[in-house]
Amino acid sequence: MKNILKIDKILKPFNKKIYVEGDKSLSIRWVLLSSLSKKKSIAYNLLKSEDVYSAINCIRNLGCKVLLKKNKCEIVGAGLKYKIKKNIIINAGNSGTLGRLILGLLINAENKITLIGDKSLSKRDFSRVTLPLKKFGASFKSSNKKLPLIMKGLENPQSITYKEDKGSAQCKTSVIFAALKANGETKIKAKKSRDHTELLLKYLKVPIKVERKKNYDLIKVKKINQIDQLNYKIPGDLSSCAFFIVLTILSKKSKLLIKNINVNPTRIGLIKILKKMGAFIRILNKKNYKGEKIADIFVKSSQNLKGINCPTNLNSSAIDEFLVIFLVAARSRGVSFFKNLSELNEKESPRLKWGSKILSNIGIKNVTTKDSIKIFGNPEVTIDKTVKIKGFLKDHRVFMMSTIAALTFGGKWEINDLDSIKTSFPSFLKTLNLIKQ
Ligand code: S3P
Repeated sequence: MKNILKIDKILKPFNKKIYVEGDKSLSIRWVLLSSLSKKKSIAYNLLKSEDVYSAINCIRNLGCKVLLKKNKCEIVGAGLKYKIKKNIIINAGNSGTLGRLILGLLINAENKITLIGDKSLSKRDFSRVTLPLKKFGASFKSSNKKLPLIMKGLENPQSITYKEDKGSAQCKTSVIFAALKANGETKIKAKKSRDHTELLLKYLKVPIKVERKKNYDLIKVKKINQIDQLNYKIPGDLSSCAFFIVLTILSKKSKLLIKNINVNPTRIGLIKILKKMGAFIRILNKKNYKGEKIADIFVKSSQNLKGINCPTNLNSSAIDEFLVIFLVAARSRGVSFFKNLSELNEKESPRLKWGSKILSNIGIKNVTTKDSIKIFGNPEVTIDKTVKIKGFLKDHRVFMMSTIAALTFGGKWEINDLDSIKTSFPSFLKTLNLIKQ
């Protein structure tokens, strides 16, 4: 019973300052890149969530030393060739990012490796990375393109030419990681997506070239023989603070300052979309940090929100934030339309479907196809019925979206699988309580 969150009151006005936990994409990349260096890497503010612990367990299994302290994490990696035991099984847990990225790093592992994951990850497509990795020379066995899968890499992988057309940073990074170990130069034409990997590799002085075109990037990566340690202070995660941004926008007479957030231009689709819808959001104190951009975000309650025909070129930079964007569309005047979003159904749960279900629970008319959603907004909508949310494959973002809906639209909510927040944002409720006080 304890794993259910019950909410039956709209949040009172607040004026607060908060921090959110470390960025998940950067935390997982830090763990994986540190695993390649024989020198000691140190990270501060590493996200301490189940996805990151899964990454740590995987690299420990591959011969790396990890020391996790209260305020920092140290890794001494295994170098560019992991020590692979016979019949090894590695477990990516709930994390698509980890599962897909680590396969790239295993390209030169000659022993068979079995990759497994939890129930949600075992429903997700892995052919999107096994196809390009096969071109490097690896072989795979899996049923139905899903986990569990068995991989066999090779001593001398060969560079490839690859076109990434989903706008998936996971696919792009998996190939970049394999390219670091492949003879020759790998050439990637990638639809725009988050570019943390490219920035981290540039900071590490790895020979990676990125030519930015309007709709895609041309990336060239050469084999490396060694890599330096990576000391890093992980900034706050915009995808976590998104829930509080939307909570503030939809609450009455409220203000929130969120400190020290990664505002990498490939991640701020949420801010661009919400501003177009009339929300009050400001990015303050912007500074550079080792190639990334960090800032504070100030947000205020926003009335007179208007619907949006969302430009598809913002899809990738807001991919993890659409569920809460849909809540803003629900409160907006007019119809909102979000399209070319089939990728949303490839996440921890089919999110387009769940977004639609939750909107219907709030009483918001919406029409969903396999890759789009039309939302008929209503600025006056409030509810007073009982809403039960369950069966969403423990998708952390569906849980947090439901919580924000409950706190802003009213009604009596019973939201299952509270422990889902442990994958990406374990202190979500603690932060919420801080805002409530
Ligand atoms: C991530 C990329 C995105 C995102 C995921 C994290 C990453 O997935 O949804 O939460 O860290 O590279 P795709 O690259 O598949 O869109």
